[in-house]
Amino acid sequence: MIDYSKRKVKNMKISGLSTPALIVDVNKFKKNAEEMDKLLEGSSLKLRPHYKSHKCASIAKWQIENGAIGMTCAKLSEAEDLCDAGIEDILIANQIVDSAKIRRLADLAGNCRLTICVDNIENINALSTAAVNSGNTIYCLVEYDIGMNRCGVVTKEEVLALAKHITACENLVFDGIQAYAGHISHVEDIEERKESTANNYEKLKILISYLEDNGVKVKTVSGGSTGTAEIKTAEGLYTELQAGSYLFMDSTYRTLSLPFENSLFLLTTVVSQRNGLTVVDAGVKTCGVDQGMPAIVEGDVQEIVASEEHFQFHGYSGEKKIGDKLRLIPGHCCSTINLHDKIYLVDGENVIDRIPITARKIGR
Ligand SMILES: Cc1ncc(COP(=O)(O)O)c(C=O)c1O
Repeated sequence: MIDYSKRKVKNMKISGLSTPALIVDVNKFKKNAEEMDKLLEGSSLKLRPHYKSHKCASIAKWQIENGAIGMTCAKLSEAEDLCDAGIEDILIANQIVDSAKIRRLADLAGNCRLTICVDNIENINALSTAAVNSGNTIYCLVEYDIGMNRCGVVTKEEVLALAKHITACENLVFDGIQAYAGHISHVEDIEERKESTANNYEKLKILISYLEDNGVKVKTVSGGSTGTAEIKTAEGLYTELQAGSYLFMDSTYRTLSLPFENSLFLLTTVVSQRNGLTVVDAGVKTCGVDQGMPAIVEGDVQEIVASEEHFQFHGYSGEKKIGDKLRLIPGHCCSTINLHDKIYLVDGENVIDRIPITARKIGR
């Protein structure tokens, strides 16, 4: 990822960046990757990191070079971006139902090993027709709703019916199950997180036995997140982990005492200040607040009010004055990165590289 011989930024300091700017501390970032490797060491769980967290082709390539078995992504445009970057094994962890997108998907399957999640027979039929027309094979995971109440089917009988249907469809391969328990990822208390994960484990074990007793082999069980990585490695049921945020972390994940540290910061400038109120030049147009407000790196704050291009910090206790740079830890790393075109990689006060966020395409 970091090729110092082709630096796009020369002799640049953080203080010289125009704000708001996304910066990643490379040392913390690499340490987070190492911590994930340590967690997975000796376990049968393999890392299939989620692309939605960074959407940077260069980081995805680096993750694959460093042992990831493939990439997870949320959208077709992300899968296309990954394939263009040479990633050979891609999972779209969602349903694609639009007919034009299904044709694109089937074509893409000619250039990589492409897996898609399904939860509906008509959709499976449409995927099969497109796969036959393109002459390519599409791998399918049946999505099992393990409690998140998002996509997927909820009974083992429905999973079996879909799995058998896929097996009977031309140019489709039933590869296994996706069971993503996103509702557990951010549960602060580790014991509570463990208990909910253990309940899911039982449900999933029953499902897999039922499928295998009915002659359906389950090769892949995909799911998991940064918040459940530690627990998942111990349980030995999932075959792949879709964690994404672990590389960056954010102010929401920070409260969970995970082995990862914040490496992603939004650099802002203080633009106004008076009696207990400090205002910076970043708001919801450059910092995702869907999971919570940002945290300030140096100093405390009593209340944060967000608007499009401003955060108003009431009762800010730090030293920063008008014109000074102030670092924020975004409330949600994935939705923040999606608002930017580039990330600056920094080492201490030096900016060492600038990488494009290549898959930032809305609605595709
Ligand atoms: C399908 C899926 N897998 C995995 C994740 C885990 O991501 P993270 O590790 O960033 O919490 C998400 C997060 O939204 C997701 O939607």
